[in-house]
Amino acid sequence: MLSTISTNNSITASFMQVFTTVSETQKQIENWQSNGLKIGFVPTMGALHAGHISLVKQSLEDNDRTVVSVFVNPNQFNNAADLEKYPRTFDRDSEMLRDVGVDLMFFPSVNEIYPTPDIRKFDFGDLEKVMEGEHRPGHFNGVAQVVSRLFEIVMPDNAYFGEKDFQQLAIINAMVKQLALKVKIVPCTILREANGLAMSSRNERLNTTDRENAKVIYETLKQAKEELATNGVEVVKKKAIERLNSSGFLKAEYLEISEAESLKAANKIEAGLNYIICLAVWLGDVRLIDNVRA
Ligand code: PAF
Repeated sequence: MLSTISTNNSITASFMQVFTTVSETQKQIENWQSNGLKIGFVPTMGALHAGHISLVKQSLEDNDRTVVSVFVNPNQFNNAADLEKYPRTFDRDSEMLRDVGVDLMFFPSVNEIYPTPDIRKFDFGDLEKVMEGEHRPGHFNGVAQVVSRLFEIVMPDNAYFGEKDFQQLAIINAMVKQLALKVKIVPCTILREANGLAMSSRNERLNTTDRENAKVIYETLKQAKEELATNGVEVVKKKAIERLNSSGFLKAEYLEISEAESLKAANKIEAGLNYIICLAVWLGDVRLIDNVRA
């Protein structure tokens, strides 16, 4: 955190710089790096909530300076209406980041991130063919484009990603390996609301009743995890999807039980391997994802 030291040596103020251009951001970060300071980075699309703040706090703890980007990346939306409806709450976001002690908020325009169209095509093999990759064509290519571009600008030592987007985390790790980047990717556990609903910017679009009803998502995941001890994968999956769909307000897009490293769909649970249960559901016109380790 940047602080000013008063004459009696107490810390009197901290401030956050807000930059919209790549050049200002890079200049500041280069200056920090030339002073040997370690940079932590939290990329976000804004509409910040306690889940984001927990990533930021981790970065503040691990690094000398913390940079947070707020950029709604058009390249990762395969649905124009979803992009349009994505909540944009700059004033609240900047206040939250300032309050927690972030050093630099990067708030670029689309032109600043993509001065020319990004035509790069990443290949993540089977990792991008399942779950989110299957249901949101082009989504992970857009994520890889923006995250690699942001890494180029911010040059972080550590970058923080939430495990709610479990497949995204696997894709980012694969991208870092492919591009031989030096950044360390730090996964952060899911933060949940009191009723178990995973924190997400999209929750903002749920009314009070939907937000309460949405607790069925986590309940279903926990139940599926329990049932895996005594039932086969296909049976557990079928029951969980039925439970979601029979709630009367949720519609399952997918529910998958996968090996946690390769994300390959499992047809049975084998000793010595780790598994994850992932899902995407619709609650009205809001799409939510969640997962639990199995
Ligand atoms: O997880 C997100 O909010 C976004 O996918 C990310 C990583 C900020 C890239 O736009």
